[in-house]
Amino acid sequence: MHGAELAGGVGSRPSGAERAGGERPLLVLAYSGGLDTSVALKWLEEKYGFRVVTVTLDVGEAKDLEAVRAKAIKVGAVQAVVKDARAEFAEEYILRALWANALYQGKYPLVSALSRPLIAREVVRVAREVGARAVAHGSTGKGNDQVRLELGMKALAPELEVYAPVREWGLTRDAEIEYARAHGIPVPVTQESPYSIDKNLWGRAIEAGALEDPWAAPPEDAFLWTKPPEEAPDMPEEIVLTFAEGRPVALNGETMDLVGLITALNEIGGRHGVGRIDMIEDRLVGIKSREVYEAPAALTLIEAHRALEALVLPREVLHVKPVLELEWTRLVYNGLWYSPLREAYDAFFAVTQKPVTGDVRVKLYKGNIVVTGRRAPKSLYRHDLATYQTGDLFDHRAAEGFLKLWGLPTELFRSLNPVSGGAFRAELASSPVSEG
Ligand code: ARG
Repeated sequence: MHGAELAGGVGSRPSGAERAGGERPLLVLAYSGGLDTSVALKWLEEKYGFRVVTVTLDVGEAKDLEAVRAKAIKVGAVQAVVKDARAEFAEEYILRALWANALYQGKYPLVSALSRPLIAREVVRVAREVGARAVAHGSTGKGNDQVRLELGMKALAPELEVYAPVREWGLTRDAEIEYARAHGIPVPVTQESPYSIDKNLWGRAIEAGALEDPWAAPPEDAFLWTKPPEEAPDMPEEIVLTFAEGRPVALNGETMDLVGLITALNEIGGRHGVGRIDMIEDRLVGIKSREVYEAPAALTLIEAHRALEALVLPREVLHVKPVLELEWTRLVYNGLWYSPLREAYDAFFAVTQKPVTGDVRVKLYKGNIVVTGRRAPKSLYRHDLATYQTGDLFDHRAAEGFLKLWGLPTELFRSLNPVSGGAFRAELASSPVSEG
């Protein structure tokens, strides 16, 4: 199992392994190492008698996987799987989102919506490997993540039972902490962040606390990756991004793998106050919520990618693609990553990316991302067609005949239905709509 490591070992807690009627069934829990999933681990063991195996992925949140593994075992996991999944996440999830220029409601680059299908896949893989009967996640009943995790797990393994302990137990924060203390689960002693945070390579999501007032500006302590634009350097920084068939491959001429390039861009953009998002977001469960994000690399790459597409894709593709981008983004936001429709959209996007090779120059300046140049071997921009100066090869005479045919239907219609300001007003006044 590439890169994944096992610890603990099934049955390593002798006290838990015996119960009348033989071995207790196994459950695989998506485990972050935080309080919720730690309490969930214990609770699933206590309430349902499961032996719990945990799965923890690093998708770019700079997690101390060894510490999480140790904690899982300490809290009572019979086995703790941890895995650095950054490359997989970048290659199979982020890259597709980039091809779709995915920004939910025009703003949110799907940070959390992209990682959940990968977490679901890994949990299911481990569940099959250890022969588990059930899987579980620590999402609440109010958000989108429960949808993404649960529908992912169900799509990949319909035979497994899915548990959502946090949704089920309905404990208040205080009761949860009390439960944790009573069961020897480490409770963070440091002042806990007033926000609910989720982060990965593609960005950082910040929710709750002072952000729940949509009129209140996000407090500066909500941000960790980005400088306030007003404190960013007075000198802009220009970078060059190189794409090969839609894939970002180099930064300032230096070849990098996807994980390295995204990590570098988060750092550079963050320094220039780039990538802050403040929005009212419509969740699938029907509520509006105030969401704040930091996503310097995501926003920079999408902007650059769009600029290159504009240069190399024909007009017709550029008209249709955004429609499918919108659909793709909504589908993925709403937890349907494993639907065949997403695969079909991806096949379309993959075809469109073939000519998307070239360079884009981007200026980062006090929170702004400005494309200042683009070039591509398969550029459809032809200077000899576009120029107003000597060397113009555009066939001006051809325009005459073209205009005749282009305007024909409208011309014919208007010869029978003349446009006249007065008549138009009269029509409005006597229309049944305005009378009713
Ligand atoms: N609102 C975003 C989404 O639905 C971010 C969710 C962040 N998740 C979290 N557990 N804090 O994708």
